[in-house]
Amino acid sequence: MSKQAGVKVQDHYSSDDIATRILAALRSAQGDDAGPVTPEVLAPLDHFHGRGVKATHEMVAHLRPEPGDRLLDLGGGIGGPARWIAARFGCHVTSLDLTPEFCRAAEELNAATGLSDCVGVVEGSATDLPFSEAAFDRVYSQNVAMNIEYKRRFYAEVFCVLRPGGVFAFSQYGAGPCGEPHYPLPWAAGPATSFLSSTEETRADVTAAGFDLVKFLDRTQEILPDLRENRRRLQEQGLPPLGLQTLMGEGIRDLQINVVRSAEEGRLTIIEALVRKPA
Ligand SMILES: C[S@@+](CC[C@H](N)C(=O)[O-])C[C@H]1O[C@@H](n2cnc3c(N)ncnc32)[C@H](O)[C@@H]1O
Repeated sequence: MSKQAGVKVQDHYSSDDIATRILAALRSAQGDDAGPVTPEVLAPLDHFHGRGVKATHEMVAHLRPEPGDRLLDLGGGIGGPARWIAARFGCHVTSLDLTPEFCRAAEELNAATGLSDCVGVVEGSATDLPFSEAAFDRVYSQNVAMNIEYKRRFYAEVFCVLRPGGVFAFSQYGAGPCGEPHYPLPWAAGPATSFLSSTEETRADVTAAGFDLVKFLDRTQEILPDLRENRRRLQEQGLPPLGLQTLMGEGIRDLQINVVRSAEEGRLTIIEALVRKPA
């Protein structure tokens, strides 16, 4: 049972004309210097997780994609990380997401960057994957599990669609020891659609699915200085000219500040892991 009947995860994310707004924001920032629309120039607008493209760099350092790999991005949002990885590493990436408007935006931005052939978009749920067994070499998921209530089903689905020996990299906020986080947060307006597991629960969930742990890190203390610096900039300078406000509205400022406050107070942790399906 959901915590609050009728509240849907995707209601927090959906809005109209996302790709149009993003491309207009980019054009307006670039002015007369407008060049091609690339995953690099879109990065401040389409990597929807704390610390933006820097966090994607770090996740890819764990995942180590290779040319020709078949990758799956679970909860791929509007496709920023998928385009960035496909263009940089020569992989095919399938981005699956629950929010229909995010999927449409991902398709439009794939077309705008000329990447429609190497980035696929599938609307669906990470707990009910429409792919055959062993369909992917690598799977990743950035800041999505907080929206997933049935986490054992999620990890079991990932295990099924990975080939033997394939790896799964993920990052997520987890439950801290000091109580509920401060809402609203970037992934949920309130607790009805936020499902946080402790570090120990996450470790037990992935192990129960059959994965071997390669890396399992609580990076909260390491990442807090970056989060604090982001808060300082938001408080002193306001939102950056190009940022996630185009996707989520200007309220994103307060949502990001709530993340920092919650992490500082021990109400959120930051978990990153690389796990492997035994060969
Ligand atoms: C914070 S955003 C992160 C988007 C993307 N991973 C990124 O880093 O840019 C969370 C995303 O998870 C998606 N999501 C939430 N629950 C999901 C589920 N059960 N299956 C697939 N996607 C889901 C949301 O629609 C949203 O796009």
